[in-house]
Amino acid sequence: MSSLQLPEKYRIRIERVLDEVLPKADISPSRLHEAMRYSALAGGKRIRPGLVYASGQALDVQLGALDKIAAAIECIHAYSLVHDDLPAMDDDDLRRGKPTAHKAFDEATAILSGDALQALAFDIISEPIAGVPPRNQLKLVQLLASAAGSNGMAGGQAIDLASVGSALTENQLEVMHSHKTGALIIACVVMPSYCNDNITERQRSALTRYAKSVGLAFQVQDDILDVESDTETLGKQQGADIAANKPTYPALLGMSGAKRKLHILYEEAEAALEEFGSNTELLHNIAQYIVNRNK
Ligand code: IPE
Ligand code: IPE
Ligand code: MG
Ligand code: MG
Ligand code: MG
Repeated sequence: MSSLQLPEKYRIRIERVLDEVLPKADISPSRLHEAMRYSALAGGKRIRPGLVYASGQALDVQLGALDKIAAAIECIHAYSLVHDDLPAMDDDDLRRGKPTAHKAFDEATAILSGDALQALAFDIISEPIAGVPPRNQLKLVQLLASAAGSNGMAGGQAIDLASVGSALTENQLEVMHSHKTGALIIACVVMPSYCNDNITERQRSALTRYAKSVGLAFQVQDDILDVESDTETLGKQQGADIAANKPTYPALLGMSGAKRKLHILYEEAEAALEEFGSNTELLHNIAQYIVNRNK
């Protein structure tokens, strides 16, 4: 496992797409639009869009469809971060090296900008997509909704908040992580598969296994970095999980146990790609990045 960078090409591409789909800051209500752009545009590793383009490349899906999926997912992700940082949730002041949305604006504006980013995601994904039949597009909308909702990210966030200070079993921790972070990451990899009618169930199931492993690995590494990295590199407060007594992999398994878990997940992701077959270079690259990243 060597340390890597994500390909710049797709980061630049998704930032251009987001810039186009987000309402301009000089359009009323400007403060709300400004807050949406503040949280969706500045910074971020863009791992989720990277996964969308990587899965699309493996499945030979056209870029126009991938742009829409990637933009919709990144809007959900940006909204989830704005709400995650609120005083009622993790109460954090720093995100992507800048003041969190409720610090840069105010709480009400932050809440509303999260709401509006979520609505924008569904606006983007429900607009006709060239080459994708309406039946498949409805499936995309449904996949995004369930990844974001109470059986996905929002549900995981509820479990996270309810678990503060309690000792979870490894199984319970995995359920929490696979909801709060895993669900949206699985959507990144699986949604493109509904843009190509020739995909086999065997391929979709291999991709889903890859996504489950990298999704969990992503949050395990997020937990590890909270302990091992520093605030400047992370662009968010180091040690925030420890300070808030959050259930995490290092807290449960110890640091070496958490790293062993990370390695096992990486191996599982690689094994799933072997089964999938061709055009998986970018998917390999992102799996390596997820477990080696330092921010
Ligand atoms: C942070 O996600 C929140 C989690 C789900 C752990 P990222 O680490 O992908 O955040 P950005 O988009 O790069 O800022
Ligand atoms: C947040 O998890 C997950 C979502 C926003 C859905 P964390 O609370 O661990 O994310 P960070 O560490 O603040 O980025
Ligand atoms: Mg949180
Ligand atoms: Mg947080
Ligand atoms: Mg975290």
